[in-house]
Formats: sequence, structure tokens, C-alpha cells
Amino acid sequence: MKSMKNFFSKGNNTVDERGLDLNNLPKHIAIIMDGNGRWAKKRGLPRTAGHKAGVEALREIIKVSSELGIQFLTLYAFSTENWKRPTEEVSALMQLLIYYLRKEISELHKNNVKIKTIGDISRLPQAAQAEIYSAIELTKNNDGLVVNIALNYGARDEIINAVKNICQEVKNDKININEINEDIFSKFLYTKEIPDPDLVIRPSGELRISNFLLWQIAYSEFWFSDIFWPDFDRKCLIKAIIDYQNRDRRFGGIK
Ligand code: IPE
Ligand code: IPE
Ligand code: MG
Repeated sequence: MKSMKNFFSKGNNTVDERGLDLNNLPKHIAIIMDGNGRWAKKRGLPRTAGHKAGVEALREIIKVSSELGIQFLTLYAFSTENWKRPTEEVSALMQLLIYYLRKEISELHKNNVKIKTIGDISRLPQAAQAEIYSAIELTKNNDGLVVNIALNYGARDEIINAVKNICQEVKNDKININEINEDIFSKFLYTKEIPDPDLVIRPSGELRISNFLLWQIAYSEFWFSDIFWPDFDRKCLIKAIIDYQNRDRRFGGIK
């Protein structure tokens, strides 16, 4: 049990000395890890150095999320559009993914992290797929933070895929067309076992979604920042969560 002397009461809430309300944490945070290339460019380094530095930021953010008791963390690592990049950059990103999983998986497992992915991973290099499957298998019974990595993920691709699979079920008389509703549709998305994000974070100064979780973010709160992903640290995450806690989520209703 944490010492209560660092906490004070704000109404019914428990707020710590940083201003963080531990009773009102977002259940699911989704992050568009953007700005690696510009971070490197600013330092006269190759873009891949930016991606490497991005992995360091990732390590810290997973650690902090886990410590705070966040339940789901979705990380946009590679989009369906990122294949447009030069082959060398794409392979460097795939290599980095393999390296990261190999190096970190036992520590993640020790910390009770459960690895999941969204996106069509069948298009990734075999070695990357193997590493992903073994990480998922190793951590499948963990019940701590779910780290959900978006790889070859595109929300439009996900929606089209869901539509095709639902059509197939209708054709096979498994689903009646009139039964299709938002809940059923959600079950056909990559995120079927994951609640919608409460908070979406995009660093790097871009104010766009870039084909990330279009269905799931209908009522998410957004937090944008000019900071490049490799510089995104514990403080940034806590600031984003505190800002989130000061939002009034109405979901179309009134207070
Ligand atoms: C995000 O950083 C990493 C991936 C998209 C894989 P970028 O590589 O997009 O960095 P910028 O946006 O060019 O700075
Ligand atoms: C979004 O970043 C994808 C990831 C972070 C993986 P991009 O850098 O690909 O997005 P755009 O091109 O700026 O929209
Ligand atoms: Mg980018």
C-alpha cells in the first residue's frame, strides 16, 4: 500500500502530488508514435537513429503505463501507408521490431505485460512474424498492462476487412442482416477484445489521425503536442493524463 501522505482528497477523488487522479485513469491510451525522422534530422542523424531513439521512449512509456495501472496501451508502430517509404527504412523498422521484441520480451513478461497486435501481420517479414507470435504466446496468460502494437495497421483496411467477414457470415446464414449493430460490427474489428481508447496521444506537431482506429475513436479525447516521439517521456504522459482528467466527457448527453 502506498503511503497516503502524498495524496489529498479532491471531492471523492484521490489526487497525488503530481495532480494525477488515480481513480480516474484512462483505461485505454492509444499513441501515434510520430516524429522520429524529424527528431533525427534536427540532430543531423539518419532517420533510423530517430527510430532507435523512439524505441527508448517506448520502453519508458510502457513502464510508466504499467506502474500507473493503465489497462490497455495501443501503439501505432507501422501503418498500411508506411510501405511507401524507401525499402531501407522499411527494413530498418522491421529489424528494430525484431530486435526490440528479442531484447525486451523477458522483462515485459516479468512485468506481467500481455502483448497483442492489430493489423495484418501476414505481410511482415517471416522473422518479424515469428518474433511477434512467440511474444504473444509467451505473455498470453499475463493479466497486467496489455500492450497492443499496431503493425501494418490501417483503419480503413480494418473496416473493409470487417465488412467482408460480416458479408460472409450473412451469406452463410450465420448472421441475419437486421441483427447487425454497432456491437456486432465491433466484434469483427482487430480490436474486438479491447475497449475503445479513452485518450489518443499524437506527438510531433501533426494534427491528424493518419488512418488510426477510425471506428474506435468516435468518443476518444485527443492530446496533441509538438514534441517528437523520442523526446516523449514520463512527464509528457502524466501531463496528457491530467489534461484528459480535466475534460468533460459527455458522449452526446448533458450533465
Ligand atoms: C514515426 O516517425 C515512425 C513511423 C511512422 C514508423 P516518422 O518516421 O513518421 O517521423 P517523421 O514524421 O518523419 O518525423
Ligand atoms: C503515422 O505516422 C503512423 C505511425 C506513427 C506508425 P506517419 O508519419 O506515417 O503519418 P503521416 O504520413 O504524417 O500522416
Ligand atoms: Mg511521421
